Amino acid sequence: MAEDLKGCQVVCKVTTSQLQTLCRHEGIVCLDLGVNRKQMHNFEVEYLCDYKRTLVPGRKTANATGVPKEREFYLVKWKGYPDHMNTWEPRKNLRCVELLRQFWDDVFLELQRQKKTVVPNQFETELSSYLEQRARHRQSLQRWEAQINCVGGLTKRILVRNCVDLEGPPNNFTYINNYKVGEGVSMTTMAVGCECTNCLENPVGGCCPGVSGHGFAYNECGQVKVKPGEPIYECNNMCRCGPDCPNRVVQRGIQHTLCIFKTDNGRGWGVRTSERIRRHSFVMEYVGEIITTEEAERRGQVYDRQGATYLFDLDYVEDEYTIDAAHYGNVSHFVNHSCNPNLQVYNVFIDNLDERLPRLAFFSNRGISAGEELTFDYNMQIDPIDVESTKMDSNFSMTRSPKKASLITGSPKKLHMTGSPKKDPLMIGSPKKDPLMIGSPKKDPLMIGSPKKDPLMIGSPKKDPLMIGSPQKDPLMIGSPKKRARMECKCGTDNCRGYLF
Ligand SMILES: C[S@@+](CC[C@H](N)C(=O)[O-])C[C@H]1O[C@@H](n2cnc3c(N)ncnc32)[C@H](O)[C@@H]1O
Ligand SMILES: [Zn+2]
Ligand SMILES: [Zn+2]
Ligand SMILES: [Zn+2]
Ligand SMILES: [Zn+2]
Repeated sequence: MAEDLKGCQVVCKVTTSQLQTLCRHEGIVCLDLGVNRKQMHNFEVEYLCDYKRTLVPGRKTANATGVPKEREFYLVKWKGYPDHMNTWEPRKNLRCVELLRQFWDDVFLELQRQKKTVVPNQFETELSSYLEQRARHRQSLQRWEAQINCVGGLTKRILVRNCVDLEGPPNNFTYINNYKVGEGVSMTTMAVGCECTNCLENPVGGCCPGVSGHGFAYNECGQVKVKPGEPIYECNNMCRCGPDCPNRVVQRGIQHTLCIFKTDNGRGWGVRTSERIRRHSFVMEYVGEIITTEEAERRGQVYDRQGATYLFDLDYVEDEYTIDAAHYGNVSHFVNHSCNPNLQVYNVFIDNLDERLPRLAFFSNRGISAGEELTFDYNMQIDPIDVESTKMDSNFSMTRSPKKASLITGSPKKLHMTGSPKKDPLMIGSPKKDPLMIGSPKKDPLMIGSPKKDPLMIGSPKKDPLMIGSPQKDPLMIGSPKKRARMECKCGTDNCRGYLF
């Protein structure tokens, strides 16, 4: 019986304020509710929610200039005390500099939005209730940020900011830093270690990558030097080398402070870097739930209808598994698409050498300035170990030119949309913007590479969502192909293809 209740949740009908009062009344410390021993008897400002300026009674002028003497008051929400105990406090009583700064940032932003230039002596209800919502919203994001940074395995801090609207943390999303193995996926770690004393300078038998006939992936600064599409074999726990080995990069985790932020042009949340990132540096891993491709097809139908996808195919050798970061994921869950991206994905093998289960790591494809948004191409096309790939190697420099990236043939390393237009032979797009139309026929992906891996050929028709079920019932089938909505790309780059999928 108890097992049946696993994961069940019951809504608490008592408000936070009531619980805080109860704690205070009983003298109980509860840090989750903000009731600590210090402010059991002292008062601590939680946030400021209103403001007014009044003339000092009895004194019309204060000095020779004739400017009336005014006093400023702030309405204070006290930490651990319910709202009805908020009090107006004169400015001189407040020492919460950061909260005052945030309060005025919010005021000016909102007045600007309302196209007002003067700060009124007394705020209208609309403004004061907005300020309160904003303060609460900031708190909920701070709590989320704290939760994210509590999850084990993070090496650098992840920040959360939303200066655009009042959207809070996503529902139904659990932050994780390590893969979650889904149902029907068996992951047995199997690794072979190296015997080198210095893996970079004196690699024995080519070190770990050499065992499978590949080159050492990093230079002495930890920058990736192999071409996109080539696998990275890092040292593992069977190796003789220590944790500082130059062949351990992805396994060390994120090395830059990153920020999940709300975009201001309708792309939802995004990720930007708070620090400069050097080119070819490891940035983050695409972490999520590893599921079978069949399960991914099923979930993809649902995600397509919701208008967002978080499925990333692990198609390094075959299309057997997919990473789903929709409900369990790390910061990569929030990385948006760009037609001119600054991240490039690589297949990485560390403690598991099963080629069907590579780890996906994003590296910068150029230097990235502090504050820049991080993006990858949801439709990148790189062929990893296809027989054709050696032939393709000479052309791989093309991947650096995003326009030409779509010309590279083979298995597309892409975020997976079940209704992906590429898979749909009926889909008609704007010819100018359609990657299938770009370039000379010679370079057309339809013409180059092994047909087995041609994007239009991937997956058996049985699996194609366009074929599943009766046509009348499938919403994807309704209407002419032209009418079917493509997701508009808002990446804003000069070479934008115009759509995501
Ligand atoms: C992997 S998620 C990225 C994170 C997402 N923005 C969020 O808030 O969770 C992919 C979704 O983000 C949005 N998105 C990403 N890149 C976009 C772009 N260039 N233009 C428009 N929407 C984009 C689309 O809704 C897409 O389905
Ligand atoms: Zn080695
Ligand atoms: Zn090794
Ligand atoms: Zn090593
Ligand atoms: Zn675009």
